[in-house]
Amino acid sequence: MRILSVVGARPNFMKLAPVDRALAQRADVEHEIVHTGQHYDPQMSATFFEELWLPAPDHHLGVGSGSHAVQTAAVLERLEPVLEANRPDVVLVYGDVNSTFAAALVAAKLGIRVGHVEAGLRSRDWTMPEEINRVLADRLSGLLFVPSRDAIDNLRAEGVPDDRIHFVGNVMIDSLCWALERARERDPAARHGLSGTPYVVVTLHRPANVDDPCTLRELVDSLSCLSDAGPVLFPVHPRTRKNLHALRLGGGRGAGVHPNLRLVEPLGYLDMLGLVAGAALVITDSGGLQEETTYLGVPCLTVRPNTERPVTCVHGTNRLVPPRRDVILAAARRALERPSLARPVIERWDGRAAERIVRVVCDDERFDAEDPGRVKDFAIPMADPVLLEYAAF
Ligand code: UD1
Repeated sequence: MRILSVVGARPNFMKLAPVDRALAQRADVEHEIVHTGQHYDPQMSATFFEELWLPAPDHHLGVGSGSHAVQTAAVLERLEPVLEANRPDVVLVYGDVNSTFAAALVAAKLGIRVGHVEAGLRSRDWTMPEEINRVLADRLSGLLFVPSRDAIDNLRAEGVPDDRIHFVGNVMIDSLCWALERARERDPAARHGLSGTPYVVVTLHRPANVDDPCTLRELVDSLSCLSDAGPVLFPVHPRTRKNLHALRLGGGRGAGVHPNLRLVEPLGYLDMLGLVAGAALVITDSGGLQEETTYLGVPCLTVRPNTERPVTCVHGTNRLVPPRRDVILAAARRALERPSLARPVIERWDGRAAERIVRVVCDDERFDAEDPGRVKDFAIPMADPVLLEYAAF
């Protein structure tokens, strides 16, 4: 059997790694990796391949940055000949980035079976490019690998038949389980001078938060205020760095911001995981960090009006906040003052999702969610999520 995985951006790589390892154990499977090149800086890409023990990609499309249309079109054009030459039985796509949707479209049009890893997540926010990518990638996929029960509900509501849906769990958590001990042993907190003191880790890169100068200023102000109380480590995504520079913030060693607010280059997977595992609080707009903090039991404030990962709010440690200084500071104080809670346990976030995916793809096994009562529990109140989740904090 020939399987080809297509990845392109940072959050894809930790989802691919456990699937690649599980496929490598099968003598009857040939697995090739295509890197679209959507992310190309070493610290956004190559570092992840090394730290996750991923083999070098078999094909590199070198699409780079561009508008959504340009980036998507470049993947369509450059992936088609690779699929025509290789004719895989299944193409696996991961997450919700532009490369995910583009690869699903090329494969589906060539009549190749598509498997979407992390299917069924919905923010119901059509202004997010990721939401468009998710819905379209799911529509094009014959195999939908869902991480949580809410995703099953979403797919059923869109008319997707049950036989396409496989409740396998969360591959992001597979990578976390695989790496956590090594990440802690590297003691990244000590290297960043954070040992023995409660610290906050921040990531912000969504266009809604960082492309509008007023919003970005308000967020930096909030973090500066928060850093009066203790160190705040902010590994800065290239998009955010560019926008901070335009506001004359964060240049040089972090000019224009509080000295306790430390702006650093994007971190590798292991250092980031080690730092998050030891953090008192995480403030983010990333999808993956909402899940990782929930698994680790670390309080998380997500600066967004909605989330496609409601399980992290309902059962986990995640709370949504608007990009407003008063709200962020109040929520952060509450989280920092609170004694640590028991680590939440989320169904099938157990480090074995990739193994289940391989059993579905290679052995035609099924992983159903036969328990309608529990599915009903997941009718998440998404109306007015900001106030609702904030009130619950
Ligand atoms: C992409 C994903 C987003 C994901 C994020 C993780 C889409 C629509 N968005 O957003 O879902 O959460 O990745 O990081 O696919 N750049 C560099 N070096 C790089 C990559 C990007 O400098 O290696 C800069 C470029 O100026 C580029 C900008 O960052 O224009 C944005 O990159 P892009 O891939 O378009 O989207 P992200 O914001 O990274």
